[in-house]
Parts: sequence; C-alpha cells; structure tokens
Amino acid sequence: MKLIIAIIKPAKLPEVRDALQAAGCKGMTITEVKGFGQQKSHDELYRGAPHHAEFLLKTRLDIAVQSEDADRIVSAIENAARTGNTGDGKVFVLSLEHAVRIRTGETNESAI
Ligand SMILES: Nc1ncnc2c1ncn2[C@@H]1O[C@H](COP(=O)(O)OP(=O)(O)OP(=O)(O)O)[C@@H](O)[C@H]1O
Ligand SMILES: [Mg+2]
Repeated sequence: MKLIIAIIKPAKLPEVRDALQAAGCKGMTITEVKGFGQQKSHDELYRGAPHHAEFLLKTRLDIAVQSEDADRIVSAIENAARTGNTGDGKVFVLSLEHAVRIRTGETNESAI
C-alpha cells in the first residue's frame, strides 16, 4: 500500500476531488495547511537579500491506496491541480505499512 500526500492550491480542491472520485478513490483526508516552496512566496529578492519565508495557505490531501493504483491516482492529482504557475504544489508517495477499518477490524488492502 502507498500513502499519497499532495499539497495543492486550495482553489483547485473541487477539481482534484472530482478527478479523484472519477479515478475510483475510496476515501481521503483534507487538511488546511501553510507552507512555502522554493520562491518562499516571493518572486524577487528584497534589497539583494532573501526575505524571510512567508507561509501561504495550501490544502493537503492524504490518500491511502493499493500500490497498483498509486501511479494512476498521482496522475489524476497532477492533471487536475496544475495551473502551470508557481505554487501548484507537490505530491509525495510513501510506503504504507498497515491500515485498519475500525468498525470491522479489516486490515491492509481490505481496509482501504
Ligand atoms: N520540500 C518540501 N517539503 C515539504 N513541503 C513542501 C516542499 N516543497 C513544497 N512544499 C509544500 O508545497 C507547497 C507548494 O510548493 P510549491 O508548489 O511552491 O513548490 P516549488 O518547489 O516552489 O515549485 P514551483 O516552482 O512550481 O512553485 C508549499 O507551500 C509547501 O506547503
Ligand atoms: Mg513555489
């Protein structure tokens, strides 16, 4: 199993959600987060020196998937979240060791 963590522009959440549902995604967790990337929210240097990093509002998605579905889900996120501008976000894919559906006690791929 894989855990997909995606950081996207908040305005792209409805499109990404629809793309994920169309791709057969069975569940996801959304969190409002703040962060910065390589521009540190600025496109320019200030008086020749880098600014302190400014945090921008982003939306984080956590999605547990079967390993064979990970590439397809990542592509769906990429295609739906891309504007082509800076700040479009990142996708991280981690190995997921264990999952449990609490109601039934099902584990791992049955629990996703
Ligand atoms: N290396 C990182 N580790 C953890 N989170 C990151 C990292 N890089 C970016 N993020 C998160 O993703 C958000 C969006 O990053 P962003 O898309 O601006 O990345 P970037 O590397 O600057 O790419 P771009 O040049 O396309 O803007 C950040 O606000 C932050 O929350
Ligand atoms: Mg950036």
